[in-house]
Amino acid sequence: MAGYLDRIGAGKVLLDRGPLSFDWTPPLLVGRERELESLASMFMGIGNENVSGRAVVVGHVGTGKTVLTRRFGEDVVREMDGIRKIVLSHVNCRNHPSTSQVLQQIALSLDSRHPERGFSSGEIIQSIRRNIRSRGLHMILVLDEVDVLVRRDSSDLIYKLLRIDEGQGNHGSVSLILVSQDPSLMGMLEPAIISRLGESNVLRLEPYDSDGLVGISKQRYEASCKPGSVGEEVLEKIGRFASETGDARLAIELLEAAVRRAEMDGRGEVNVGDVMPSTLRTASVEPSQVDSLGTHQKLILLGICRRLRKVEEISSGDARKLYELVCEEFSIKTRSYTTFWKHLKSLETEGLLEARSTNTSVGRGRTTYITMSNTSPATIGSRIEKEFMNR
Ligand SMILES: Nc1ncnc2c1ncn2[C@@H]1O[C@H](COP(=O)(O)OP(=O)(O)O)[C@@H](O)[C@H]1O
Ligand SMILES: [Mg+2]
Repeated sequence: MAGYLDRIGAGKVLLDRGPLSFDWTPPLLVGRERELESLASMFMGIGNENVSGRAVVVGHVGTGKTVLTRRFGEDVVREMDGIRKIVLSHVNCRNHPSTSQVLQQIALSLDSRHPERGFSSGEIIQSIRRNIRSRGLHMILVLDEVDVLVRRDSSDLIYKLLRIDEGQGNHGSVSLILVSQDPSLMGMLEPAIISRLGESNVLRLEPYDSDGLVGISKQRYEASCKPGSVGEEVLEKIGRFASETGDARLAIELLEAAVRRAEMDGRGEVNVGDVMPSTLRTASVEPSQVDSLGTHQKLILLGICRRLRKVEEISSGDARKLYELVCEEFSIKTRSYTTFWKHLKSLETEGLLEARSTNTSVGRGRTTYITMSNTSPATIGSRIEKEFMNR
């Protein structure tokens, strides 16, 4: 096999790529117990033939709206086993933005051979209703990113779906869950729709905090990687970076990229340095972040910044020497090597530095190389310099 492909099969860290995909639905959601309970309360009595539920779920990108509704749907199906036959239909209106496309997707979830053309919306709705009733089913329908449909084609279809049983006797054919990242969704809907949905049936998902994101990346790691290959520090760094947006997708992306870097390096362990903020969509370090650092952290960082204006990366040994020079310059006593290391680590966890370790063939042990891909060394350096000049 060609040499450059060797790494593909190595899998020193990765056992199963599946759980690193956004489409993977975890068996349990991390930290959304209350939200699931709240959703369940909107489906009270769903085991009864004439009952259907309604819910509206809103929240920013990556707050877990899609996975929450998927997890909930699958859990309800399992819970209702032997009590009520439930079929799930999850339509992403961004991918199927017109009324007829949405209806087509719903019809397909009931019958994979549903013909593509030749029917009006009214006819498809009728055939959906007939199919559900004749088979004694109940459908939980999720219209994901529903604002796209409403903007394009009005909320007519939602109204019709909410009235699917009207004048047909007491029967709950369809439960409806509307999902949107647009907080003003309710404002886009007609009063008649809002009253049918129930104003209190709105569930708002808050962005995740760093603990939540650590939990989510930990779950993904445990489901996809070798035990022990990703440490707490790595997960914490991911959590800290992703917490700026609270987007779970970002946490998973950072984990995946870090695993890939470790694999590329042929290592069996992911390092803190593999979590690279440069893959972030927004710069994650503000220069003002250095203001709250301790004196020696600043001095260490200053030495590193001065050198990184000229070179791409420096070794930890050089960083130590530069730190000693800076201390001399400002007549401050240097700290021990251990303390120096501790500060270096904390600067890395702060996201101000990235460190990369290599096995060296000369001498023994490992050398650590330090870079700053996340922010400009010149900006950070002169900010610290100014402070110490004025002391
Ligand atoms: N509470 C959670 N527990 C586990 N994984 C989660 C959780 N919330 C989100 N995720 C994962 O994060 C990613 C983004 O979530 P998603 O449901 O697509 O967000 P949204 O639909 O709000 O944009 C998905 O891969 C999802 O599985
Ligand atoms: Mg989604």
